[in-house]
Order: sequence, then C-alpha cells, then structure tokens
Amino acid sequence: MSATLISHAPADEFRLPDGPKSPKLVNGLLALFAQRRFVRRLQGRYGDAYTVDLPVIGTTVIVTHPDLVKAVYTAKPTVLHGGKNPLGGLLGPGSLFSMDEERHLQERRTLLPPFHGDRMRSYDELIEEEALNAMQAWPEGEPFATIDTFKRVTLRVILRAVFGAEGTELTELEELLPRLTAVGQRLVTAPILRRDFGSWSPGRRYRRMRRRYNEIATALIEERLTDPGLSERIDILALMLARLLQDGAEINRAEVADELLTLLVAGHETTASSLAWTVERLRRHPEVLRRLEREVEGDDSTLRTATILEVHRVRPVIGTTGRMVMQPFQLGDWCLPPGTRVVTQASAVHADDRFHPNAASFDPDRYVGHKPDTYSWIPFGGGVRRCLGAAFAQLEMDVVLRTMLRHFELMPADAPGERESFRGVAFAPARGGVAVVRRRGTPIGSAASEHIGQSRPADKEVVV
Ligand code: HEM
Repeated sequence: MSATLISHAPADEFRLPDGPKSPKLVNGLLALFAQRRFVRRLQGRYGDAYTVDLPVIGTTVIVTHPDLVKAVYTAKPTVLHGGKNPLGGLLGPGSLFSMDEERHLQERRTLLPPFHGDRMRSYDELIEEEALNAMQAWPEGEPFATIDTFKRVTLRVILRAVFGAEGTELTELEELLPRLTAVGQRLVTAPILRRDFGSWSPGRRYRRMRRRYNEIATALIEERLTDPGLSERIDILALMLARLLQDGAEINRAEVADELLTLLVAGHETTASSLAWTVERLRRHPEVLRRLEREVEGDDSTLRTATILEVHRVRPVIGTTGRMVMQPFQLGDWCLPPGTRVVTQASAVHADDRFHPNAASFDPDRYVGHKPDTYSWIPFGGGVRRCLGAAFAQLEMDVVLRTMLRHFELMPADAPGERESFRGVAFAPARGGVAVVRRRGTPIGSAASEHIGQSRPADKEVVV
C-alpha cells in the first residue's frame, strides 16, 4: 500500500469531534507553551475527544479516554500510519520512524527478538557498571542535577549494549552523538535550518557529524559481519545482523546505521529523563524511599518495579503519540477523514481519576500485584508502534535505581516538586532532578558488594 491518502467514504459521512474555533496560530502557541493546561481546558470543555487545527500539523483529533486510545492502537496499519514523524526525515529511510505498513512490521520482526524482555537480563551487569562509574563523581551533601549523570549512563549503555561499541569507537561515539543529536533536535523543530547556510550553519554541521557517524557505524557493522564469533555476541547489533543473515536478507549498511541511531535517539534521553523524575518523586515521598531501601537489602524488586511504573504514570516523558489517518477511521461515534492526525494524550489519561483513583497522588502500591492497564497506562504508546525498547528501559531504570539505593542515601526534599520542561525529545524535570546524597560507608544489598569487590556486610546493616 502506498503512502497516498485513500478515501472510500463519501465526504458527508465524515464527522469530527467538536473543538475550539480559535485560529491555528493561537492553538499552536498554546500547544507549544502551555501544552498541559491547554489540553486540560479543552478536555473540560469538549470531553474525551476534540479537534484542534494546528499550524504545520493540520487538523488534529486529540483523545483522552482509554476506549478511544484502544481504537487508535488496534487500528490496522493501513488505516493509521505513524504520523509522519519528523524524526524519520532526519534519521533516514532505515529508521523505524520512517516506515509504515509491511516494511515497518518486517523491521519490527527483525528487531523485536533482541529486545525481548527475557534477553534483557544479560545487560544487568553492564548497566550496573556504568551506573556505578558515573555516580562516583556525585558530590556529597550539596544539590546537583542527576539528569546529566543519567544521560551519560543511558548513552554509554546504549552504545555498549546496542551498538556493541568498545575502545576508541565507544569514546568517539560518546563524544560525537550528544552533539549530533543536539543539532538534530534543532533541525526537527525548525526544518528550515536543514538547509546548508555555510560551514558553521546547523544544517552543514549536522551533515558533517552525520557523515562521521555513518563511517563509525559502518565500521562496526563490517566488524560484526566478519566476526567468526558473531553468534556468541550479545549486543543488539550482532543479534540484529544474525537475524538478517538467517533470513537471507541483503544487509544495507546505511539503513542499519539509521536504525542504530534511531535506537539511540529514542532510548537515551527518554530513559535519562524518567530516571531524573524517579529521583525527583522519591525525594518528595520519603516513606516510599525508605521502603525501597529496605527492599534493596534483599533480592526482591516488587516495589521497585511498581515505583518505576508509577513514575511513568505520573510523569510520562513522552506526553503524546501521533498517527496519520490514511483511510476513513471509525473513532467512537466519529468517522475521521484521511489526512487527519490522531493524537493519544498519555498525560491526560494518566491524570484522570476515572481511570486511576486518586490520580494526583504518587502511589506505587497501585502496581504492587497489579499490572497496568494496556489502554489507560500508555507511557510507551501502543499497538504495532509500541515502544520497542520498553523492556530495555524498564531494566535500565531498575538497575540504575537499585545501584543508587545501594550506594547512596538520597535526602528527602522540602522544596515543591520540579516543574516539567521539554528538552527536545522528552519532558524532564525543569531543574534536572536535583538530588542531595550521602555515600554509604558500606553499600546495602548482597550483589552490590560483590560487584565492587568489597566483602559482604555480615548483618546487611544499612550504614548511613
Ligand atoms: C523511559 C524510556 C522510554 C519511553 C518513555 C519511551 C516511549 C516511547 C513512546 C511513547 C514511543 C511511541 C510509541 C507509539 O507511537 O505508540 C516510543 C517509540 C519507540 N521507542 Fe521508546 N521509550 C523509551 C525508551 C526506549 C529505549 C531504551 C529504546 C531503545 C533502545 C526505545 C526505542 C523506541 C523505538 C525504536 C520506537 C519506535 C517504534 C516504532 O515506531 O515502531 N525507546 N517510545
């Protein structure tokens, strides 16, 4: 099926939800600068679905009810496309964000097995090692923003676990990619900058860095393809290539490089921001923090898992997911014409008392012994485009949080919660998830002491 918009229904059958009649530009400015408040106001006025006209994006239907979210996430891939994600244009044709329908499903079939939940455990030690190294530099007794540490950890973890990079390649990618993605984010928000306005213009700089990235990524791919031990490797690139070879597919190096960059862009800042929110929330909920510290003394992780799920609910770092209607789409009582965008608003669904009793309170216990509901807990989106790295992110957050709790005492905060601020890819705490910590004389928990070469404390006492 081509990407052309196809309409099989006569125009008078189409019906859009009601919405504000304000001019595009006003809606655009409100959506940009007061997104959450704008959405709350519209939801209060129009209910669980409403239509907004937005600059560049066009007619957009926003849904805030799990039944409507379900309709979006279960629609056929020929009816709803990925929403012409602007990231796709920048990442290249080999990026999942650029693909739809059969090509997209085929690419997910290649990528899903390496990202399977059970496989993830093999990265536990690597994540712990990176977290410990990065936390070494934490100052004691004075406030600092944790997001910088978490960005460093999530970048290095993806480079090692996904790209399989080590040595000079790791060092160079670690230096290059934050610059490349920072410029890339500017090009996504202002596409005019993609043009080449001279040697120091963002467009030229992006192309230069992208060329260098492609050279390094191609070298890594070549190394894997000639590695006789490919089948023993555990990095995601090796698993992906092994799968392509097994399927007899031709390996397009440039497209594999696009996909690796996609995984990095999608997984680095999102996970780091969620970790910063975890610190921000826990400092304001010392009773949960104390229970987590007790839990980390043993091998149980029930409360930690529930805490992470609850952080995603109260502070989803990606507030919305978008789709583009390609064929008439029945959404509840409405029928949307091709060319309409549909947006699911996770932040509104998550904050709604109808679907999450006492939604404003941070209460990890709601997920102790209960799995989150597929359509009212949607921090990772849903359906055929659900986040590919959700299990990876869950493991990474779990190990980083566990490592932090074992090695540091996190001081509670009296200050009001941090506001959120959009940082190009994700919503992060405005002050970067400020922490004040004290290093523990003896780390708590069994595995912690084994990994950093100390003897295990006899009585597992929490030393502060
Ligand atoms: C807390 C961390 C993360 C959050 C909150 C998050 C959230 C999301 C969301 C909301 C989407 C859009 C889903 C949709 O449209 O229905 C998405 C897509 C995606 N994510 Fe994540 N993500 C996270 C971490 C990761 C990681 C660690 C990776 C990989 C290493 C990753 C890879 C992807 C990819 C490849 C897609 C595109 C899927 C597709 O279009 O088929 N994400 N993510």
